[in-house]
Amino acid sequence: MARSSAPGTAFLLGEHAVVYGEPALLFAVGRRATVTVETKSGEEDKMPDSAYVREAVGRAREHAGDDTPLRVEVESDIPIGAGLGSSAAVSAATLHAASRELGAPMEREKVAEEAHAVELDVQGAASPADTYTATMGGYTVVGDEEKRRLDVPGGADARFVVGWDGGSAPTGEMVEGVSRLVDRNRVADDIVESIGDLSRMGVERAETGDTDALGALMDMNQGLLDALGVSSSSLSRMVWAARDAGGHAKLTGAGGAGCVVAHPAADDVLSAVEDEAEEAFVARVAEGVRTEE
Ligand code: MEV
Repeated sequence: MARSSAPGTAFLLGEHAVVYGEPALLFAVGRRATVTVETKSGEEDKMPDSAYVREAVGRAREHAGDDTPLRVEVESDIPIGAGLGSSAAVSAATLHAASRELGAPMEREKVAEEAHAVELDVQGAASPADTYTATMGGYTVVGDEEKRRLDVPGGADARFVVGWDGGSAPTGEMVEGVSRLVDRNRVADDIVESIGDLSRMGVERAETGDTDALGALMDMNQGLLDALGVSSSSLSRMVWAARDAGGHAKLTGAGGAGCVVAHPAADDVLSAVEDEAEEAFVARVAEGVRTEE
């Protein structure tokens, strides 16, 4: 039996623009998907009805050259389809556990690459942002120019508030909506580039350990995401609750519904977001995909 887990992810800056190759700045959120894989020779496959799990198992089998029937179980405390990279975490943890169980453990880089391929197969359009961050953990910058873990001085101690409105939205449709807007309105194209500029600034600040400076950039990013049509009244209410309590905030992920991320994780900011959210919690920066006992 092999058990692996991978964290959820949140965008501090740059979602949607990353689909166009612009950089995004993310961190791995301390909520995880845990996947248990067991070989069951002589039985049939038994796994959850998830295209991500099926696709990841298929890729692990191909990698291992082994078709032994498997029993797969997934446990997760990451809200699904809510902007916290739940499918990336499930894909990375499944690839990690299944490849180990089949006797051909994948290297981290390989897990990241295959998890991205899983998302592309299942969703159509997907950047490697969520899958790379779920695999590597910590802070990352992901874009066409670079894809790496960021060394943020003091960053391991940073905390962020995550608020969830209780809803979810299909990533593919949200990405499609932005693409239609970009096709017919050149201002939307400029907005995508500007979001990339905010991420570039954010990476510079983060690398000097100035996580506080990220707040103003997050606020600006939220304005631009709103202009691209991916915010919603419930997301905006959580954002404004955080701001009214002295914090900074933006939606994270595809938008439409789901989660916001706010900074700093002061008590006032947490309780203000809580008042508008279905659920709110303080997120610490987490480790990437890993073996579990
Ligand atoms: C979804 O979590 C983030 C988006 O940027 C899509 C992607 O990066 O594939 C909206």
